[in-house]
Amino acid sequence: MGSKYIVIEGLEGAGKTSARDVIVSTLKESGVNEMVFTREPGGTLLAEKLRSLVLDIRSVGDEVICDKAEVLMFYAARVQLVETVIKPALAQGQWVIGDRHDLSTQAYQGGGRGIDQAMLATLRDAVLGDFRPDLTLYLDVTPEVGLKRARARGELDRIEQESLEFFNRTRARYLELAAQDDTIRTIDATQPLEDVMQNIRQTIMAWVQEQGA
Ligand SMILES: Nc1ncnc2c1ncn2[C@@H]1O[C@H](COP(=O)(O)OP(=O)(O)OP(=O)(O)O)[C@@H](O)[C@H]1O
Ligand SMILES: [Mg+2]
Repeated sequence: MGSKYIVIEGLEGAGKTSARDVIVSTLKESGVNEMVFTREPGGTLLAEKLRSLVLDIRSVGDEVICDKAEVLMFYAARVQLVETVIKPALAQGQWVIGDRHDLSTQAYQGGGRGIDQAMLATLRDAVLGDFRPDLTLYLDVTPEVGLKRARARGELDRIEQESLEFFNRTRARYLELAAQDDTIRTIDATQPLEDVMQNIRQTIMAWVQEQGA
């Protein structure tokens, strides 16, 4: 089996970072040892600078980042990561495990912010071409559950401070896109951590088998 790009998606506090360990251990059992980890926005020097600009309003004083500027900063960071980290790793036979990728933009900006969804798809295709993850695990939680977990963990960033309605729209878009795409598998992440991890493990095992078939 060739190298693959697996992405973890979901609202804040869904359990994305926690999911990584179980993905790694499950893949190792399947004989995958060479893995690279990415997070978005970020993962290169430039992309991390864009991350702090886009997630931290204080870095631009009181200036409000307009919706399209925000989208373009996410894409600048994303394409830099794809071209300089993800594609080279895959070409060298390493698997890439990503904490968020393009689905976040489609869900947060398309769903949450209400930016024209056709425009976002056009932008994605123009910037990324046909580059897509091989598998996306979407960890589905209600915003109430996710934000409670994220809050318990510490200070909230600019996007995390959005309204509950924003996150409800984001979640609805995630679910809508997941239903249309075979490469996106939805995990009920409102369950206790142990059950979620077990579910992720089973999903990865089944998917790896499908790849070999
Ligand atoms: N299923 C679960 N049940 C209870 N607590 C959980 C569950 N999953 C994760 N947590 C806890 O919730 C907090 C947030 O989890 P985690 O950091 O993995 O989420 P995340 O999706 O990476 O969030 P962010 O988008 O903010 O990075 C952590 O303290 C984690 O231990
Ligand atoms: Mg995280």
